[in-house]
Amino acid sequence: MEVVIVQDAKAGGELIAESIAGLLRRKRDALLGVATGSTPLPVYQALTAKVRAGEVDASGARIAQLDEYVGLPAGHPESYRSVVLREVVEPLGLTEDAFMGPDGAAEDVQAACEAYDRALAESGGVDLQLLGIGTDGHIGFNEPCSSLASRTRIKTLTRQTREDNARFFDSPDEVPHHVITQGIGTILEARHLVLLATGEGKAEAVAQTVEGPVAAVVPASALQLHPHATVVVDEAAASKL
Ligand code: GLP
Repeated sequence: MEVVIVQDAKAGGELIAESIAGLLRRKRDALLGVATGSTPLPVYQALTAKVRAGEVDASGARIAQLDEYVGLPAGHPESYRSVVLREVVEPLGLTEDAFMGPDGAAEDVQAACEAYDRALAESGGVDLQLLGIGTDGHIGFNEPCSSLASRTRIKTLTRQTREDNARFFDSPDEVPHHVITQGIGTILEARHLVLLATGEGKAEAVAQTVEGPVAAVVPASALQLHPHATVVVDEAAASKL
């Protein structure tokens, strides 16, 4: 695992955007796995700036979603599908044709999970998976004690994650209890994992991810098992290393 300490979130965004741009220059139709939350936004902004400046052509890129709330209608502004379309797909000049994600509004959620897991494999696999990290060490929505071999499935959010994500909703009660997430085993199949963590609130989770044992209680520690994992942290998130 490679750990890169940058000064701040903007520098982290720039560094990862350049890595994605490099990938797209080598492979026009790369499949980019994207995460939601506040942390990756500087990456998407920096990548969009590069595309608009003509530094990289993203027109062949494909975008895959990491996780999704269950039960929000697809058009809900805080469904992760809406967030990824708004923050990544549209700014990069792509259309929904370039996008794939799990169906959180499906009647048969289990079947939707299996279908998405299969679709990822059939698409040739994720070339670069961008990850954030929850304050409890989760990746995607794989909460602590998720199996390290897990596949895409339905999960129940912890109280802490619902509280952490309440800021995106009008009231805390609106945060769904259930989600679909790529499993840890699914995530580990991506060719390159890039985890970005910024701010002091992530420092403990980062320390356990990087320096602790590989353990299901810290799902992000599974990155230690991956042959090509990069952890980009700002100085605040690195403060407990
Ligand atoms: C959610 C997402 C994760 C994300 C996490 C942290 O739980 N499912 O993919 O990493 O939030 O979000 P933030 O970056 O806003 O702290």
